[in-house]
Parts: sequence; C-alpha cells; structure tokens
Amino acid sequence: DLYGPSRRNSAGVELGHRRSLEALLAEIAAGGTGAFMAMPVIDGQRLDGTSRMVVSPIDAATVAGAVIEADAAIADRAMAAASRGFAAWAATPARQRADTLRRAAERLEAERGRAIALLQVEGGKTLDDALAEVREATDFLRYYAAEAERLFGSAQTMPGPTGEDNRLSQRGRGVFVTISPWNFPLAIFVGQVSAALAAGNAVVAKPAEQTPLVAAFAVELLHAAGVPVSALHLVPGDGRIGARLVAHGAVAGVAFTGSTQTAQAINRALAARSGPIVPLIAETGGINAMIVDATALPEQVADDVVTSAFRSAGQRCSALRLLCVQADIAGRIVQLVAGAARELSIGDPREPATHVGPVIDIEAKARLERWIAAHMAAGRVVWQGEAPQAGHFVAPAIIALDRPEDLAEEVFGPVLHVVRWREDALDRLLQGIAANGYGLTLGIHSRIDDRIERIVARLAVGNVYVNRNMIGAVVGTQPFGGSGLSGTGPKAGGPHYLPRFAIEQTVATNT
Ligand code: SER
Repeated sequence: DLYGPSRRNSAGVELGHRRSLEALLAEIAAGGTGAFMAMPVIDGQRLDGTSRMVVSPIDAATVAGAVIEADAAIADRAMAAASRGFAAWAATPARQRADTLRRAAERLEAERGRAIALLQVEGGKTLDDALAEVREATDFLRYYAAEAERLFGSAQTMPGPTGEDNRLSQRGRGVFVTISPWNFPLAIFVGQVSAALAAGNAVVAKPAEQTPLVAAFAVELLHAAGVPVSALHLVPGDGRIGARLVAHGAVAGVAFTGSTQTAQAINRALAARSGPIVPLIAETGGINAMIVDATALPEQVADDVVTSAFRSAGQRCSALRLLCVQADIAGRIVQLVAGAARELSIGDPREPATHVGPVIDIEAKARLERWIAAHMAAGRVVWQGEAPQAGHFVAPAIIALDRPEDLAEEVFGPVLHVVRWREDALDRLLQGIAANGYGLTLGIHSRIDDRIERIVARLAVGNVYVNRNMIGAVVGTQPFGGSGLSGTGPKAGGPHYLPRFAIEQTVATNT
C-alpha cells in the first residue's frame, strides 16, 4: 500500500465514459436544487442580518445565492466563542478528532453533487476542476486525520541517558484564524480548517468574500460530521473582517492563502499586537516559469503549457505565467501552443464539454483586459483566442517579452508570457527568473539530466515539475507550497504541515 493503511486518495470519475458522466451530472442536478445561503455561524447559531446577493461569475443575471456578512462585533463574538470552545476540543483524543474528519470526508463524497453545483455557479469552475477540487478537499480531510493520529496520538519517547523518562508531545495552540481564497473555495478552505482542527485548535474561518456559499456548505458538513459547534465558527466578510480577526487578542495562529501583499499586511498586524508571538502560515502567489530546451518533445510541451497556463482560466497559484523556450524551437512551440489553445472551448462551466470557464469577477476581467490591451498596443500579443462577450470571460492570450524581468507581477488569468533564451545564456535566464523573488512552481521540459539537476539546484522553488504539466499537486504525494514571496511554508498536504499548528511540550520525569 503506497499510502499506508490509514489513508487513500479519493477516487476519480472517468468523464470520458458516457455512463459515469451521466451519473455524475444527475448527482449535480440533484445537488444543485434549493437555495444557497451563507451567514455567520457562531456556536452553531446562524446569525441573521442584511443579506446581499452572490452573483455568479458566469454572468450577471445568474445569482448563486445570498450572504449575510459579519460585522466587527460578530467577528469579536466568534473569537470569544472559539476561545471558550478550545479546551474541550484540545482535550478530545487525536484519534477521535481524526475519526470526525474522516466522517466529514465520507459525507463530502456522498454530497459531491451539491459541492460541484456550488463550485460551478459560485466559483465558475468547470466540471473537471470542480470534481478535482472535491477530491482534493476529501484528501485533505483524510490526510490530516491520519497525520493527527501519527503526530498527536501519543507522546514520543525521547532518549533518557541519565535514567529520566523524557517524553515529547504536541497539542493545539488555541484559536486559529483561517483566511482562504476564492480560487479553491472548497479545497483550501477545508484544508486550512481541517489542519487546524486536526491539531486540536478551535477555528474561526473567514472565506473569500467572492465565495462564502461553498464555505457555508463545508462548515455545515463538518458540524454534521461531528466537529463540535464550539470548535468551528464561520465569519463571512471582506478584508476588513479578516483584519479584525487577525488583530484580536485571542489569536494563537493564522493560516492564510491569497496575495503576497495581504500576507505581508497580516504579518505586520500580528507583529503589532502585544502578547504572544503567533505563527503565520502563508501561501501566496508566484510568477511561475517553465523552462523548455531544444531536446523537449514539442507536442508534449504544447499540451502541458496549455493545461498549465489556460485551464482553470489560469486562476491557480501554481499556473504557468512565463514560458522560457530555447530560441531554436521557440517559433514552433508557440505555434503549437496557439493551435492547441484554439481548440479550447470557453464558456459556461456547467456545460460538461467546457474547458475554460470565467474569471472570478468583473474587476479581474477588467484588470486582465487592461494588461492584454497594453501589450497589444506595444505589438507584443502574438496570439489571442476568443471568448463569449457576456459574463466574466477572458480570451486566452500569448504575449512575447524580451527578458524574464519584464514580467514583474503575477497576472492571475489565462495569459501566457513567452521569452526566448540561447544556449550560452541559460545562467542569465535563471538569474532573471530568480530575480522576481517568488518561488512557487517551476516546470522543466528537457531530456538532459545534468541540466535538469542544475536548474533545480539553482532555483529555490517549492514545487518543480519535470516533463509534465505544472498544476494540480496531489495531497500526501506532492506536498504543495513555496518560499520567498510565495509563502512561509510548511507545505500543505505534506508531513510537516500540522506541527506548525501545534505547540510542543517536553516532560522529563525523574523515575
Ligand atoms: N494546489 C494547487 C495546484 O497545485 C494550487 O494552485 O494547482
């Protein structure tokens, strides 16, 4: 057993198989009925208030549901409730906490139709992305459950050379605030929350303002699976609510995924508080490069580039932003990539045949279109596809740049930048890539082993993908996360993640 007896990754669905596809679509149709609603949930109590509509990114006429957002007073109440709830959950044996998370995984698999329906309408996710996300969330629940048993099940006996009995144990820190992004509204939300719970913390969760409905669904599911209502509280809201939570005196730790600037702001806010110094676990952006040399297989490169840059509408932190191709084959590669990208079907993500859905909101669309237009004016757009006019769709584009340094910001959408490099200038290229300060993902397409090793050793990047696409890290298999401007570590879905959510205690007993 590759994973050990206690854990397996969630099974997929063969979407190319008509009968399995139809069965899944029926599950989604059944799960998508009824109103979707999100509101603050404190001690299991759903708080009323003024609601606003959650508009779908698919088009302005499609309403995903409604949300009642938390105000500052509600955020404070959630922190107080979590402080009260901490002791009982921390005292619950790790085995029992793990069983609860495993029950949540089972429920999520049973309710995947509803989860997918929500991910599609609120998050604009295509069928394969939504399914992959449900599987990733399920994997996080099971992985952290297994990790909780491994790390928190019993104290570790340390050497006792002087005859003393030395034991090291770990336990939860207190109240963890989790702040999650809209691009993985289920997987990252559930990943952060389940890690903090697995380690024995109480949690106050603040989902992205664009995707509160998926978060509300997940919290309901976790409570129904047996997570005590006193240990998990939900506060939908915007960045101001996140700031309020982070500044609260009861914070024992923060897990954040989102932009580098927001992570830096959280870091400053935590530093400005009096009282204990608490950890920030941040996973942020990247200007992710793929380096392709003349020994690579062009057709495979084209396929992997299209998947990495354009699928999920480029809205993954792992997505490819900067393709660096050896000059000899650059013309052919760009031609193949454009040819393959032309075949992508862009439109309503609820259509099973759609490859690329919308970007998250009107601001994202406007920002991306401004970026493309500026490069169009400079004569740098070498190819652009087409996208539906209505809704928040952005036509994929390929932009030619001279040097890696010309891309100094993360362009979060279906925009691929290309630079060419010559054999004698590989070092210069690597220097240029490293100069952006990020370090999340890196792709390499080459048949030269020494070169691959040299590139891997040279660039401090969290996740490197060789001769394959560079997205979709698998929980427990490809622990995910970067360094530098891309985050603090430890890696999500990896063996070092949970200890950062815990404190350690050594007991030395003179026997
Ligand atoms: N975990 C995601 C991926 O690997 C993050 O964007 O693609």
